[in-house]
Amino acid sequence: MRKLLLAVLAMVTFTGAAPAQTYPTHPITIIVPFAAGGPSDAMARILGERMKQSLGEVFVIENVTGAGGSIGVGRAVRSPPDGYTVSFGHLGTHVANGAIYKLGYDLVADLEPVVLLPSNPMIIVSKNAVPAKSLKELLDWLKSRPSPPTAGTAGAGSGSHIAGLYFENVSGVKLQYVPYRGTGPALNDLVAGQIDIIVDQTSNSINQVRAGNIRAYAVSDDKRVETAPDVPTVDEAGLPGFHMTLWSGLWVPKGTPKDIVTKLNAAAVEALNDPAVKKQFENLGLQMPPKDRLTPQALGDWQKAEIAKWWPMIKAANVKVD
Ligand code: MLT
Repeated sequence: MRKLLLAVLAMVTFTGAAPAQTYPTHPITIIVPFAAGGPSDAMARILGERMKQSLGEVFVIENVTGAGGSIGVGRAVRSPPDGYTVSFGHLGTHVANGAIYKLGYDLVADLEPVVLLPSNPMIIVSKNAVPAKSLKELLDWLKSRPSPPTAGTAGAGSGSHIAGLYFENVSGVKLQYVPYRGTGPALNDLVAGQIDIIVDQTSNSINQVRAGNIRAYAVSDDKRVETAPDVPTVDEAGLPGFHMTLWSGLWVPKGTPKDIVTKLNAAAVEALNDPAVKKQFENLGLQMPPKDRLTPQALGDWQKAEIAKWWPMIKAANVKVD
């Protein structure tokens, strides 16, 4: 019996099987690469709260900000591949940043995909003082400014920055970007009238639009957002083709045991299938990911496809980061 016990102990010690079987045994950290109070932070907190029920351990949200989210992702990449550090990110942090920064890590080779999360179109919003009642009037106002109007972003390479570049491309408007540590703080300044516009995630601005604290002009989709039925699409509002969906996802450091990735994926999928979570997300204008795209492989394939799609436009924009 003693020999058998020693053999099992040796096997477990050398193969590391024990951690995966007993995982998790202590709280798990989700690194959100933007400031508290923004859309990434909100989604991660809702998700972590429900994943705790499945895995039996608390999910701690750590906001590690700066450089368009690339600092936070780098922190996750360099964490031990043991399943206790999860990287929350999106089109900006896990696609665009690779075309803008010398990251010191590879967004595909140094991370394991876990699960695709909800997505939302961008929404074009302005401070209330802008005398425009339609997207066309907004474009005229923006173009008539004596100096480039200010657009809040979460930093170079963030989703709101990429959306701003795309908006400039399609509309011919020239913007002056004002970087924040997240679009939570940027939105506070928009409400206060300190900046002119944000091309923001719908989920971030929607409550301020509903409260009448900012103005919405269009959503970057070919259909209206069900929970914001009064906001026209860009096609209806006169900026056809400005379609952009910002999707989010979870990753872990490369080398994380497959069993642990599977457990994290299952807990996230359980959260996404929870009607209460679904209602919270949909009320923010978020669209749930298709059920056939919830495997780790599906996120990995999607991320690679988005890199192929966005890098040429971003590199052509020749974004300078200090
Ligand atoms: C972005 O613009 O990349 C995000 O909306 C930033 C955030 O989640 O705060």
